[in-house]
Parts: sequence; structure tokens; C-alpha cells
Amino acid sequence: MLAEYGTPLLILDPRQVAAQYRLLRTQLPDVEIHYAVKSMPHPAVLATVAALSGRFDVASRGEVDLVRAMGISMDRCIYTHPIKKPDDIDHAYRSGVRTFVVDNPTEVRKFIGRRSDIAILARVAIPNQTAKSDLSVKFGVAITEAEQLVKDILTTGVHFAGFSFHVGSQGTSVEPFRRAMTTALALVEQVEAAVGTEVGILDIGGGFPVTYREPMPTIAEIGDVVRPFLAAHQGSFTVLAEPGRFISASCATLLTSVVGTAVRRGATWHYLDDGLYGSYSNVLTENVHPPILALREITGVATTFDPVTLAGPTCDSVDVIARDYSMPTLGVGDVVVSPMMGAYTTVTASGFNGITPTPVVISPPVAMPPGLAAP
Ligand SMILES: Cc1ncc(COP(=O)(O)O)c(C=O)c1O
Repeated sequence: MLAEYGTPLLILDPRQVAAQYRLLRTQLPDVEIHYAVKSMPHPAVLATVAALSGRFDVASRGEVDLVRAMGISMDRCIYTHPIKKPDDIDHAYRSGVRTFVVDNPTEVRKFIGRRSDIAILARVAIPNQTAKSDLSVKFGVAITEAEQLVKDILTTGVHFAGFSFHVGSQGTSVEPFRRAMTTALALVEQVEAAVGTEVGILDIGGGFPVTYREPMPTIAEIGDVVRPFLAAHQGSFTVLAEPGRFISASCATLLTSVVGTAVRRGATWHYLDDGLYGSYSNVLTENVHPPILALREITGVATTFDPVTLAGPTCDSVDVIARDYSMPTLGVGDVVVSPMMGAYTTVTASGFNGITPTPVVISPPVAMPPGLAAP
């Protein structure tokens, strides 16, 4: 593959997507999985999730169009962005999406006068200091204001369906999941009692972490925390999840190569042909650090290791992938490999400095739906 395509290159294995999807289903058996398209929207990933009867979390007009273009029925989608242009709500509705998320009164007002077959989830903020991205800073109504938000939703004429939350990305502890479940279930009881309306849906979000370099809570550990809460409420409401990273992280492996090497102030720098403005963008956006190995390490012929700096190909001084990182001796043309490069990589890459996006090759090849070329 290297000989055919060169570097940089992302090799995408859809079987990994299927394996992660099945693993999540095993650990959270009664939960409807809505794959968060934003994490890796490659058609091969979407097709794999669709083939497993999975559902989708879309959060923009573009994601609606992408899923619809795959021929997937849009009643399998929920629109999870809490802040939307009215036009985008119109577009999603016309495309067949019926479930939307809101987290504040201004957003609720955008649903006044809309069709009564719309279902609304109220997103609540669940702070998580152990997360790399604590999403409660930007989104989610405070628990203390959630009941009023539900009352606001009920005045619009659309249907209040339930609550959603997201515990944040790459949290190092399972405790936020426990806290989130306790909080959300107490809120369900409070709102049912106060407002007299039934809560039909609880959406437990994404935020199921994966291990890059440091061990993270496993999905089995998270399942052990979440399942008893769900068992205690079985049949009371439908439970959804919106996993992104957990499904897509392991499906892609990045191959880069050393373009140049320099010694600066006694330190060795290797300049790779992909970097922070490309496939390693999650280093920049969420401080997430994938493993990096020399191909020679994997094939077992590396002996001495020294700390080096690995830099990306742009002229920006920020574009440094890893510092003091232990690597075997490398020279120009040597191949460097990063596994776990499926989530928030291609999708947050920019074309900065005129550098073209890293091509994605599917291996083993799968038949794509007609008209959908891999980007
Ligand atoms: C609303 C929503 N749902 C799901 C996800 C996916 O999260 P993760 O990739 O951590 O599972 C995100 C990520 O930003 C999100 O904002």
C-alpha cells in the first residue's frame, strides 16, 4: 500500500467500526446507538454503522445531507446541535429528521408554530473536570433551570420527548457517568411530578473514551456503571447514546514519513509530512495524543531509542506533534505510524499552508453505495 500511495496516508478498516459498534451494544444492550457523524463522516464508516442497523447523530445541514445521500432513512437520525438556524431546522425537518435538541429559551422559541410531530430533547449540562473537553462549558441547561426549560418547550406545540447530556470527551474516570445518570434520573422524576408530562427518552450522549497512550476507563467499566441505572428504569423510557470517538477512533491508521531532520539546540527534530493542521488535528483541538511508532519498531528492527521532537509540515511553530518523544533513529524517508487516527482527524484537518488533505484508503476494500466516492 505504501508503494502504491506513498505518504501521508490514512488506512481505514471498516471492520474496526463494526467491532466497536458491537462492543458498545454488548455493554449497553438496550441502548439505541446514534453514531456521532462529526467524529468521522467517511462514507465507509457511515455505511458500516448503517449495515449494523445503527442510527445517526447529525449536527449540521452538511451532516444531514451526507447521511441522506447514503440513502439512509432520516428517521434514524437525531439532530443534536443545541443551537441552530431556523433554516437548518427547516432543512432537517424536510429531510425527515424529527428529533431535535435544545438547551435554552431562545432556541426553544425557534420551534414555536412548528409541526407537532417534532420531538425535543432538553440537553442538560454535566460538568466533568476529568474530561479533555468539558462540553458543559459551551452547551447544556443548568439542572436548576431544566424544569423551566421543559415548561417553555411545552408551550411551543412541539413534543417534549426527554433529556440528553454529554459527559465530555476523553474523561479519565467513570464517576461522571454515575453522576450524570443519578442527576438525569432525578430530573426525570422531578419533571414528571412537577409538569405531569412523561419523559420518553433519555440520551446518555457520547464521551465513551478510548485509549491512546494512557489507559482510559474501558467500555466494560462504563457499562457496569450505567447498566444498573437503566435496569432500574427498564421500560420507562427509550435510552439513546451518541458515541463518536468510541466507534471511529480505532478504524484508521496514519502513515507519515520523515521529510527532514535537524539538530536544534542539541535536540533532534524530525519533520513529518502530516501534522497538527492535518490528521493530527486532535492534538491541537482537544489535547489528544495518539501513539506514534516508527514502522521499523513494528517490524522489530529498531534497537536504540532517543527522545526527539516530531513536527508537522507547515511553517507554523505551533505545528509540533510530540516533544521529548522516544523514537528509534530516523532518517529522511523513514515511515512513522500512528494507530487510533479515526476520530476527529480528517474532519478537523485544514488545508493550511496549501497542504492537501491526507488521502484515505479503505482496506480491506468495501463496496460503496453508488455515487459515493471516498473523499
Ligand atoms: C452533541 C454531541 N454528541 C456526541 C458527540 C460525540 O462525542 P464523542 O466523540 O466524545 O463520543 C459530541 C462531540 O462533540 C457532541 O457534541
